[in-house]
Amino acid sequence: MKFLFINGVNLNMTGRREKGVYGSQSLDDINAEIAAHFKDDECQFFQSNIEGEICTALHNADADAIILNAGAFTHYSYAIRDAIAAIDIPVVEVHLSNVHAREEFRHKSVLSEVCKGVVLGFGKNSYILAAESFKL
Ligand code: DQA
Repeated sequence: MKFLFINGVNLNMTGRREKGVYGSQSLDDINAEIAAHFKDDECQFFQSNIEGEICTALHNADADAIILNAGAFTHYSYAIRDAIAAIDIPVVEVHLSNVHAREEFRHKSVLSEVCKGVVLGFGKNSYILAAESFKL
């Protein structure tokens, strides 16, 4: 399968910010583990802190499935929501942390409704579990 893993705003700081919440591994290290786990599949990785670039990545995606951690954009980006709705590729929303056990503003996702599913709270394994769901 062809997987596209998209990470949004501040996810490039993973491993350097709030380690108690997001862990101490960098995004590159996490992506390397994902690629190793899915060694028989094609894995593409994209990260941007710019909302419009995430939308463009969704529009131009060449993948069977997209795994998206939009970071804080999750909670308010109608642009990313519309970009997900505009494409036919299934998108799974993921989060490293259990957003429901955190601040109230993180409990609301404007993306979930247009996603195939949501996986959250399992650290880097959230990405792997989300992609594995397409292989069952
Ligand atoms: C996050 C949760 C978001 O609320 C937060 O803004 C992030 C990371 C997560 O992976 O747990 O940047 O998406």
